[in-house]
Amino acid sequence: MLEKLDEIRSNAIDELSNLQSLNELEDWRIRYLGKKSTLTQILRGLAALPLEQRKAVGASANEVKALLEAALGQKRAALKEEELARSIERGRIDVTLPGRPLALGRLHPTTQMVREICDIFISMGFQVIEGPEVEWDYYNFEALNIPPDHPARDMFSTFWIDTESGERPMLLRTHTSPMQIRVMERTRPPVRVVVPGKVYRYEATDATHESMFYQIEGLAVDENITLADLKGTLYEFAKRLFGAERRVRFRCDYFPFVEPGVEMAIDCFVCGGSGCRLCGNTGWIEILGAGMVHPDVLRRVNYDPDVYTGFAFGLGVERIPMLRYGIEDIRLFYSNDLRFLRQF
Ligand code: DAH
Repeated sequence: MLEKLDEIRSNAIDELSNLQSLNELEDWRIRYLGKKSTLTQILRGLAALPLEQRKAVGASANEVKALLEAALGQKRAALKEEELARSIERGRIDVTLPGRPLALGRLHPTTQMVREICDIFISMGFQVIEGPEVEWDYYNFEALNIPPDHPARDMFSTFWIDTESGERPMLLRTHTSPMQIRVMERTRPPVRVVVPGKVYRYEATDATHESMFYQIEGLAVDENITLADLKGTLYEFAKRLFGAERRVRFRCDYFPFVEPGVEMAIDCFVCGGSGCRLCGNTGWIEILGAGMVHPDVLRRVNYDPDVYTGFAFGLGVERIPMLRYGIEDIRLFYSNDLRFLRQF
């Protein structure tokens, strides 16, 4: 009987060392430690043995049982660990592989510029609003002191819209200035707004002309607004957009809806004023048109010009990135060439 136990032990341990999987291990457990295993039979039969033999066989059988159970536990842990290692290997990620590139969108250079400019005016207390691109003649011209036969209409080659005869004439707005009227019609002073948006001109396109481009209009109306406020505001704007060291020049200009009208220029940021290609050898770069809102325009929207005054300005958006980055053709902005657009 004792030899039998020895044999069981050595066979079991031998076999155990060759097992490869948890399934095989379970078979092994049933074979050597299960209810029907020889070892269990021997332990069950102990009671029937004579006392002396019972002691010796009992001690030995329990020893073998304890040994096998301990070996089983160790083997099970070892197999589990191997299995885990294999599954990690199978699902392994190579972190050194380059990632799959995501196609990243970006903001159009004009959009970036509009936002940058509006942010400057927002910080000065202006509100950003937008308005219709299809506009009545009344807002685009008439209410801005440009009646039907006014020569200033020639400044704006207009896309007219076919309307029924007798209907009010309609067009694609040639500037953002009509929003001055729309804003003042529906609010009382104080007014402080900037209006970014598309405008249209019926013109042959070339490197500096597009039939659609962007403008930003500004308008501030309140009691006691003077030309000094216009200059202070636009000077601050120019410094923030083009750098604190910029010099600014205001000269007289004519626009029917302002009096006086001015044109603002900054000293050329390429040559610093000595003259170069960018500034056409003048040392100055024209940035925008502006002026004090004409009393007739104020009267038109029932603002009393003896109480209220205001300033307005309008600037072309694309011109600024063109100057900044040396872009030589405005048509690049809207011809959808990704090689151009991806640079911004
Ligand atoms: N609307 C003018 C244009 O398109 C620009 C302009 C000039 C706007 C003077 C203004 C202004 O508000 O005061 O040429």
